[in-house]
This record gives sequence, structure tokens and C-alpha cells, in this order.
Amino acid sequence: MTLDVVTGWPLFAGLVVVTGAVTARWFLIGGDTALSDPVRRDIHRSDAARLGGLGSALLIAGLAMFFARQLIEFRDPWSPWLADARLLMGTAWGRTWGVAAAASILLAAAFAAARRRPAFWWLAQPLVVGLSAFPALTGHAAGSVDRRSLLIAVDILHVASAGVWIGGLAAVLWVDRSFRRSTGDTSTLAPLVAAFSPVAFAAVLVLIATGTVSSYVHLPPIDRVPFDPWSRLLAAKVVAVAAVLALGFHNLRTHTAASWPDRGQGESNLRRSSLVELLVAQFVLIITALLVRTGPMSG
Ligand code: HEM
Repeated sequence: MTLDVVTGWPLFAGLVVVTGAVTARWFLIGGDTALSDPVRRDIHRSDAARLGGLGSALLIAGLAMFFARQLIEFRDPWSPWLADARLLMGTAWGRTWGVAAAASILLAAAFAAARRRPAFWWLAQPLVVGLSAFPALTGHAAGSVDRRSLLIAVDILHVASAGVWIGGLAAVLWVDRSFRRSTGDTSTLAPLVAAFSPVAFAAVLVLIATGTVSSYVHLPPIDRVPFDPWSRLLAAKVVAVAAVLALGFHNLRTHTAASWPDRGQGESNLRRSSLVELLVAQFVLIITALLVRTGPMSG
């Protein structure tokens, strides 16, 4: 169990954060928002690239631990580790992992370059989209006998929309914090939140729709659900997601700029409650790290 969380969380959190950085670049910073002042926009984009760099580091660490875990489970105690690692890399799983590992290192380089040369965002974005397929190609979706392509497509959309919502929220807080630091406390929270809310709303709809399809396919017959560890984990996940959604809705309702009698106080309240929302979302990722390692009874 611990090994599943220690290997699963960094991978999922890394994917969520790099997706959040790309979401910030394309949806939150620029366009017709109050953030389109070129100087401010370039600072924000560079900050978003820095966040992407952090996410890539988490992703590389997660992928390395994923490989170590897979090797531990794969290995023949009588043969040398290196021989087993070579054998593992020769499998379909190993090849998928190899491509993901190379892509995540290239992504880290793309984000580092994008801090000064915005053109590298055009390299970072397809890499992020491609890496969002790694969980589907190495998890239950790829292992399904029937409806395999549907489940893989649904899973990729699910992971991407989770990244846009939770990663986007992380990017809002990160870009605002970086800007306050570089400008001596001028906040951009209100315009960032205004740009983020419709994007988050759309991502949540896709997330719930894809999660429901994937749940429907994997869930065992109803009479077996109470005895199925996978179903119990899914129930725990849905409860944790409901908590994140409730916090998000509360933030949206109570912390809009219009409701701030004292702007400074309003912004710090929003920062704090958004951080709580982000922390609770980590429980969703931790439960998911256990969920994908538990075989649904339906299989
Ligand atoms: C904050 C919200 C959510 C986040 C961050 C999230 C994240 C994820 C991630 C990263 C995966 C792993 C994909 C894989 O390894 O194949 C996943 C799988 C899954 N999620 Fe979600 N998800 C969220 C909400 C939901 C909701 C609302 C549902 C149900 C309605 C759901 C149901 C599932 C199912 C069934 C799977 C596949 C599990 C498996 O392959 O064993 N998720 N989710």
C-alpha cells in the first residue's frame, strides 16, 4: 500500500502540475484578460514555465519510482537486477515507460527554455498531452479485454481534465505568489480567478463524465460491490472529490472580488481556502494511486 502511494502520488501530481502550467499559459495568462499587459504577461508565462519545471521534476521522480516498483515485482530473485531491468525494458510496459521517461526529460528541458524563449511552449504542450496517456497505457484501461480503446481515450481525457482543474488551481496560486514576490505585493488573484473559473467548470464536467464512464465499465455487478476493494476505494475517492468540489464551489461563491469589502483581506482569504482545496485534492490523488493498483472484481 505505502509503495503504491509513494510511487503513484508523485507521478499523478507531476502530471497534474505540468498540465496546470500549460493551462495557465494558454487559458489564464494573456488573451483578453486583465493580464494581457505584455510585461506582466511575459512575467506570468515565465513563472508558469517555472511551475512546469517543478512538475516535470516530480514526474521524472514518479516515473523512476514506478520503474523501481515494477522491477521489484517483475524480478526473478535468481537473476541479476540489470538483466531483469533489461528484460523489463523489452516488454510493452517497459517500452511505454521508456518513451514516457524520455518525454518527461525533454519536457523539463522545454519548460526551462520556455522561461526565456516562449516558443518552447509549443514543444511542452504536446509532450504534456502525450504524457497524460501514460497512466491509461500502463493501467486498467490498457489491461481491459473489451472496450480497450474507449477506456484508454476516456482515461486520457480524465487525467487531462484533472490536470486542468487541480493543476490550474495550483497555477493560479503559483503565478499570483510569484508576481507578488517580483512586484512587491501587487496581486493578480482576482483576474486570474476570473479567467480560471469557466475553465475549471468545464474541466470538472469532463472529469465527472469520464470518471463515471470508467467507473461504470470497471464496477462489478451490484451485489458484489460491497465486497470489492476496488469499489470501496472508488467510493472513498468520490467522497474526497465531493469535498474538493464543495470547497471549490464555496470559494467561487464567497470569494469573488465583488464580495471583498477589504481587498487585501478578501484575497488572503481566497488564497487560504484555495490552498485547502488543493491540499484536499491530494487525497484524491493518493486514493487514486491505490485504486489503479487494485484489481476491480469485474476484471
Ligand atoms: C479531483 C478529481 C479527480 C482527480 C484528480 C482524478 C484523477 C485520476 C487519475 C490520475 C486517474 C488515473 C488514471 C489511471 O491510472 O488509469 C484516475 C482514474 C480514475 N478515476 Fe479519477 N479523478 C478525479 C475524479 C474522479 C471522479 C469524480 C470519478 C468518478 C465519478 C473518478 C473515477 C476514476 C476511475 C474509475 C478511474 C480508473 C481507475 C482504474 O483504472 O482503476 N475520478 N483518476
